Amino acid sequence: MEITKSVAEFLTSRPPLTDPAFTKWGVTLLGMLTLAQFTRKTIEFLTPYLLPSRLNKFKHTLQNQSNKEKPWAVVTGSTDGIGKGFALELAAQGFNLILIGRNPDKLANLEKELRAVAADCQTATYVSDASKIQEKTTQDFSHLVRLIGSKPVTVLVNNVGRSTAKLANLTELEDQDIVDVININDVYPTLLTKQLLPTLVSNSPSLILNVGSMAGDHGFPFMTVYSGTKAYNKAWSRGLSVEMKMLEHKIQVQHLLVGSVNSGSNKVSVSITSPTSRVFARSALKVTTTRKIVAPYFWHALQMRIFEALPEWVIDTMLIGMIGQIKANIGSKEE
Ligand SMILES: NC(=O)c1ccc[n+]([C@@H]2O[C@H](COP(=O)([O-])OP(=O)(O)OC[C@H]3O[C@@H](n4cnc5c(N)ncnc54)[C@H](OP(=O)(O)O)[C@@H]3O)[C@@H](O)[C@H]2O)c1
Repeated sequence: MEITKSVAEFLTSRPPLTDPAFTKWGVTLLGMLTLAQFTRKTIEFLTPYLLPSRLNKFKHTLQNQSNKEKPWAVVTGSTDGIGKGFALELAAQGFNLILIGRNPDKLANLEKELRAVAADCQTATYVSDASKIQEKTTQDFSHLVRLIGSKPVTVLVNNVGRSTAKLANLTELEDQDIVDVININDVYPTLLTKQLLPTLVSNSPSLILNVGSMAGDHGFPFMTVYSGTKAYNKAWSRGLSVEMKMLEHKIQVQHLLVGSVNSGSNKVSVSITSPTSRVFARSALKVTTTRKIVAPYFWHALQMRIFEALPEWVIDTMLIGMIGQIKANIGSKEE
């Protein structure tokens, strides 16, 4: 109250333009506006990490009086890395799981691991090679839809994704590799989501998490195809989120911005800026805010905020240094 009164007094005390005191008043006003803007942005930035998890919203099937069934989640690329992290966390947090992967043995092992995490976790598996999506057509997903049947699926995690087989410039990449990456990262999640939307609508409120990458925002050299696919995912995800709102479907669609995570294909040392896949998945399930695009792991969000504040030439210099270093490390391992 006191602050509001002081601000009101200050604003009404504006000296005439010709008065030398006007400059001091103007500078003070500018300072106040900058501080207010900084405070607003800081609160906006921190809010998703401070609020409690909203995951319970997607466990509403447990409240269904006639049939208190555990909710089901579908996870793609579930057999390793972040996808496996999601499967383990969702099981621990009370979901049954439909696990999608290309390797039946890894899927069977994961089912056993999930039982160790939550003995009552029911699972079903669906074998599918995401790179082959265009050969098989969407008809292929009709098997998955049949497998889902009347299971109350309320969460879909579109996690499957990879970069091109080598860190190389565009002309060095195999054509098939480029097509595979676009299929896995973009065509597959788009067609899968199209097939599962009616199920998610009938089980709403429901949640779709689309796993993106910092590369989609900045366009990483020697990872240009991968970066492009993640930029598609971000725009598609955002558009779909608004589309759901326009159609009055209670489906929350969220694009997850991901920095470095220790995973099957990214064997970096675990650190505060490179969490384990499970820690990352836990953060993502906690930060199910209504934001359409979010970096769910706080330290990634901070890195991204700092990155965004830098001039483009500094970002380019950092990317050249970072990718150059990775290329040099790969080169020395191959020798
Ligand atoms: N890790 C990071 O630092 C990082 C950073 C930014 C974004 N991301 C994103 O996070 C997601 C997961 O990455 P990750 O690092 O966890 O990868 P990962 O450890 O290599 O795991 C990838 C998962 O996708 C599956 N997969 C790969 N190709 C497939 C195909 N053709 N068909 C079906 N399944 C396939 C793998 O199956 P197998 O087990 O059979 O190999 C595995 O289950 C990706 O979308 C990636 O772009 C990761």
